[in-house]
Amino acid sequence: MKKILITGGAGFIGSHVVRLFVEKYPDYHIYNLDALTYAGNLENLKDIESKSNYSFIKADITDAEVMNELFNKNQFDGVIHLAAESHVDRSISDPLAFIKTNILGTVNLLNAAKLAWKDEMDKHLFYHISTDEVYGSLGETGLFTETTAYDPRSPYSSSKASSDHLVRAYHHTYGMPVVISNCSNNYGPNQFPEKLIPLSINNIKNNKPIPIYGKGENIRDWLYVLDHARAIDDIYHQGKNGETYNIGGINEWTNIDLIHKLCEVMDKKLGREPGESAKLITFVKDRAGHDMRYAIDASKLYNELKWHPSLQFEEGIELTVDWYLNNEEWLNNIISGDYENYYKEQYKER
Ligand code: NAD
Ligand code: TYD
Repeated sequence: MKKILITGGAGFIGSHVVRLFVEKYPDYHIYNLDALTYAGNLENLKDIESKSNYSFIKADITDAEVMNELFNKNQFDGVIHLAAESHVDRSISDPLAFIKTNILGTVNLLNAAKLAWKDEMDKHLFYHISTDEVYGSLGETGLFTETTAYDPRSPYSSSKASSDHLVRAYHHTYGMPVVISNCSNNYGPNQFPEKLIPLSINNIKNNKPIPIYGKGENIRDWLYVLDHARAIDDIYHQGKNGETYNIGGINEWTNIDLIHKLCEVMDKKLGREPGESAKLITFVKDRAGHDMRYAIDASKLYNELKWHPSLQFEEGIELTVDWYLNNEEWLNNIISGDYENYYKEQYKER
């Protein structure tokens, strides 16, 4: 039985990757390692937690000793590394937390893997999950390709860029088999409501202002989270050693257009008059250093691995809204904790 370690599996994207692997590969044992920070939530995996090919390990990747012990004890065949601090706004108020988890944590995993795999390095794989934000910010035209020079501009993207460089360094220096993927903005069920789409769904539902940074002209490419999980499956199994793959949705939206679309869907689902939810749109102080546009050229993935996004945005956003409206308890459990303090602090001067 193959043993695969998935880090950050209690988070948004990680939980979808864990579920996909546990269900699709009964002959793999999936170890989900997660520190259960504010963003980690085992509720995300309730439906699969009793499967015999699944185990949860509560551990912090910043603890080198614990990582070495785990790799030594379990002899993982492969790693899919998603654990990270992931929210740009939090990285602006507390960069060090991002340096610790995203850079130091990744090096700890690489070191533990290097030590455990030293005699048979070729039989293993370290798959590092990264973001398109490492490439910087685009103007009105152009797309990020796998060879676009790195130009990260927030503490979050800088810490992810550093971790990408380190993964490549372990490949070149120590011969570690690695793959890296850089994906655009994900949306879908189980996303923590600090990110634009779930935060807006929650506010619309509760008739609270929808905070749009600046003029809402910034552009993001949005991909449904299950399509990202499918791409991760394809890249883990078919990606070429040492290669990088961009993942994107061919789905660019300005923030303001996206929120108008979301308001339309929410009006329909909540039985409101058309235009009612959009009245909640409120322009607030811009994010410091706000990247203008991200857009991905994913043709390498389309051509070499034959992956394509399966959902149109219109379908994906309906599924997402339905999920949040049908999972009130999940949302209420989150927003009743530290979330309130975070929200007050983050939006107090906006
Ligand atoms: P998330 O914040 O929802 O989840 C992160 C998970 O990592 C949480 O479960 C958390 O408990 C865990 N974690 C954090 N610090 C840890 C530590 N020190 N030790 C162990 N576990 C720890 O993040 P997400 O949105 O699911 O993103 C997952 C990965 O995908 C990240 O590496 C992120 O950079 C990358 N990514 C995210 C997006 C996106 O749109 N969300 C897009 C591209 C790439
Ligand atoms: P976010 O979901 O934080 O993802 P990222 O910063 O990684 O792209 O934000 C998506 C876009 O929405 C980004 O341009 C910032 C903007 N935004 C708002 O306008 N208001 C908000 O309250 C948030 C959280 C984000």
